[in-house]
Amino acid sequence: MPFTVPDPTGRPVAVVGAGTLGRRIALMFATGGGEVRIYDPSAEQRAAARAYVEEQLPAVAAGIDAGRPGTVTTGGDLAEVLPGAWLVIEAVPERPELKQRVFADLDRIADEDAILGSNSSSYPTSRFVDSVREPQRLVNIHFYMPPTQNAVDVMSCGLTDRGVIDLLLAELPRHGVFPFEARKESTGFIFNRIWAAIKRESLAVVAEGVATAEEVDAMWAVNTGLRGGPFRAMDQVGLDVVLDIEEHYAAERPGLPTGPRALLEQYVGEGRLGVKAGRGFYDYRPGAGAASGAADRMRRRRSLTAVPRPRPARRLARGRRAAPPSEEREPRTAGRAQVTHEAPPVDRRRTERQCPGPVHRARLPRHLDP
Ligand SMILES: NC(=O)c1ccc[n+]([C@@H]2O[C@H](COP(=O)([O-])OP(=O)(O)OC[C@H]3O[C@@H](n4cnc5c(N)ncnc54)[C@H](O)[C@@H]3O)[C@@H](O)[C@H]2O)c1
Repeated sequence: MPFTVPDPTGRPVAVVGAGTLGRRIALMFATGGGEVRIYDPSAEQRAAARAYVEEQLPAVAAGIDAGRPGTVTTGGDLAEVLPGAWLVIEAVPERPELKQRVFADLDRIADEDAILGSNSSSYPTSRFVDSVREPQRLVNIHFYMPPTQNAVDVMSCGLTDRGVIDLLLAELPRHGVFPFEARKESTGFIFNRIWAAIKRESLAVVAEGVATAEEVDAMWAVNTGLRGGPFRAMDQVGLDVVLDIEEHYAAERPGLPTGPRALLEQYVGEGRLGVKAGRGFYDYRPGAGAASGAADRMRRRRSLTAVPRPRPARRLARGRRAAPPSEEREPRTAGRAQVTHEAPPVDRRRTERQCPGPVHRARLPRHLDP
């Protein structure tokens, strides 16, 4: 029986899981002036998510064309949260067996026409088709780190109704996020996968002794005009997490070069996990150059958009801003492969210039304006 694509008019969006991403997803949907409901079994998480959304919402909604603050409610009972929602987005921990159970519940309790989306970073929703009666409504909707990093991957589970994908591509820009369709099943979706290749080749360059990490980051800054660089970003995410991610890709795609993983293993073996350990490719310990006050002062002086003047590589790398805050990381999970969001640092003004494309049906939000 063909699936009936929902009409979102006047209907709430439900987010299942109120953690780092769940509350950010709820925030973005709340900018459309409608109702967003958050479900989480933890009362503490529900309260924290609600406080986060209420604090951020006025400013984020003001930065989006036609944005206006909506209402956010939370609940600890799916049977109260889901009914009426046209879209339900799962953002629970990255454990496939948990997600399978959650999708079975969502399928049972949500309205018959509700779209069931997964924010998973690692798992295509093809993994969950057996958990639902109606796979035409199942789809990956992978957010990065809104409200600052607002691209979204949309990917079919293989059986997703075309109308579901078209509706999401049309509807998401109304909420200040920008969907891009992965037209085939792809681990890492679109951008995470491209970023993985950049990291891999950067690691290979250093592993082969072609250049140092600092030199690669400095050249990245000179040539792209973007702050940070692959090694700064990897240090921020955590080299153990980066290794997990690369192992996940390697398991799926035999033949990837081993040098990048060997270099990461060496750093992880030495306890040089990146910022969280005080040392990674850079040294962040007090007094060390990578995190020094001098670097911070230099950073403040620099314009966001200015393409840096060529300078000696070492000085430039130290003057550049490091990658995203630690909140943007997923914790390392022993023995469990993950592909998480860990895109390079955003230079918002460049994003504004580069993003608009045929996929977007709306202007980028005002808060990204130069
Ligand atoms: N953190 C990132 O950078 C990032 C980026 C993109 C996508 N993701 C994906 O988003 C998902 C969530 O990640 P996160 O970082 O927000 O995790 P998190 O640990 O911060 O939050 C998970 C939340 O789910 C709740 N939860 C646990 N069991 C639940 C259940 N049965 N039903 C509903 N809620 C439940 C927890 O109480 C917690 O609040 C994962 O699939 C992850 O891959 C994460």
